[in-house]
Amino acid sequence: MNESLATVAYIGATILFILSLGGLSNPETARRGNLFGIIGMALAVAATVHGPRVTPAGIPWIIGALAVGGGIGLFAAKKVQMTQMPELVALMHSLVGLAACLVGFASYVDTSTVFPTPAEKAIHEIEIYIGILIGAVTFSGSVIAFGKLSGKIGGKPLLLPARHWINLAGLLIVIWFGREFLRAPDITSGMTPLIVMTVIALLFGIHMVMAIGGADMPVVVSMLNSYSGWAAAATGFMLSNDLLIVVGALVGSSGAILSYIMCRAMNRNFISVIAGGFGTGGGAPAGGGGAAQPAGEVQPISAVETAELLREAKNVIIVPGYGMAVAQAQHTVFEITRLLRDKGVNVRFGIHPVAGRMPGHMNVLLAEAKVPYDIVLEMDEINADFPATDVSMVIGANDIVNPAAQDDPASPIAGMPVLEVWKAKTSIVMKRSMASGYAGVDNPLFYKDNNRMLFGDAKKMLDEVLGALKA
Ligand code: TAP
Repeated sequence: MNESLATVAYIGATILFILSLGGLSNPETARRGNLFGIIGMALAVAATVHGPRVTPAGIPWIIGALAVGGGIGLFAAKKVQMTQMPELVALMHSLVGLAACLVGFASYVDTSTVFPTPAEKAIHEIEIYIGILIGAVTFSGSVIAFGKLSGKIGGKPLLLPARHWINLAGLLIVIWFGREFLRAPDITSGMTPLIVMTVIALLFGIHMVMAIGGADMPVVVSMLNSYSGWAAAATGFMLSNDLLIVVGALVGSSGAILSYIMCRAMNRNFISVIAGGFGTGGGAPAGGGGAAQPAGEVQPISAVETAELLREAKNVIIVPGYGMAVAQAQHTVFEITRLLRDKGVNVRFGIHPVAGRMPGHMNVLLAEAKVPYDIVLEMDEINADFPATDVSMVIGANDIVNPAAQDDPASPIAGMPVLEVWKAKTSIVMKRSMASGYAGVDNPLFYKDNNRMLFGDAKKMLDEVLGALKA
């Protein structure tokens, strides 16, 4: 394949990636978006492998790498639970960062490219320096994020004294060594500043993510997603590969936008999240599950009584959360929805932007269970409808329906927008115990007069509700 054909294929792949991102922004078009992404990536790989830069001797290496990488990817995709997805994503970001570092070092020691002017050589070296810098921060930061999300490292932020000064000193040293790197007369003497900078960048990545509390980890994963995009773009500059630059920029900017949206959904200030020290909020360590302090009497309800309330209702809003994902209750939820809709009940779903453990978690599960898209509404679209709702049914959700976010300025989640389920005539919360959610805070919803608690595993209880509805 000659250069111009490869360029045409790259432009085609770029368009497909943009269409893919556009498609992924809506559940109805997400499947198509995924397909565009797959075709775009296949085209990009094919154009690169058959492109002018790969010699026939390199092809077996590429095929070997594709088989190993593809095999690991396939194994991980089959084995990893949906709830472990953020950890897997963090691990994958670390690989992008590591790749950027390795490509940077390889480009530096590669003497096959001859630069016509010193300015061009300097630009190439700046690309290498910045590429390795972003790659190393992404690599070590993502490894720590993986450790925190999988519980291998505690969720509590590590707040070193004068940490901002430490970061500033690190930045100044990196700039100074950058100057030394550019001045180095040969590769051997340039290696020392490059290695020193890499070590500082690795330590910075560790320090940055260690300082962030567990409750802010979702934002951090999305931020590292953005970093991995910029690392890929930097790799594109090093390799003079336009497609990698464009795709890296797309990932970098979409990750940054997602981080911003998530910060807004959790009422966090983006800069505060990055600066660290936030996200524990004085509650239990993130990951939740701790016993909440009893703050009143709760009123339990049985599955049969729940079925009765649902049968008599005209309007029902279902609010799913992390517990629905754990219990894999989405198929039973769909069965109940279908049955109620057949009886003329208006059933809709209210989805919080950070319900579950990853963006779009609930949408994916409901789509898998074939719940029609038109009854799945975003929090902002449905929140005003709760006062006119007979029953709001909370399935394994906790933080996202916590009224303390609105009523208690001292709450760690104060200001976080929540689904106002307590405004319905009756709210039913389905969970196994009185344990807290991810943010580790008590939920006053449980003690409200119009609230009922249906204790038990969500799948088991919903099966009982379904049985009672059918009876
Ligand atoms: P949580 O607040 O974590 O509450 C989930 C509840 O589900 C728990 O209180 C738990 O109570 C219950 N549960 C667990 N297993 C269950 C089962 N088998 N059957 C029934 N209930 C079960 O979840 P949420 O309301 O979805 O809120 C999400 C939280 O995660 C937010 O704080 C958010 O910031 C955070 N977060 C979000 C993301 C993204 S991007 N979505 C990523 C990471 C973290 P029991 O133990 O008593 O059953």
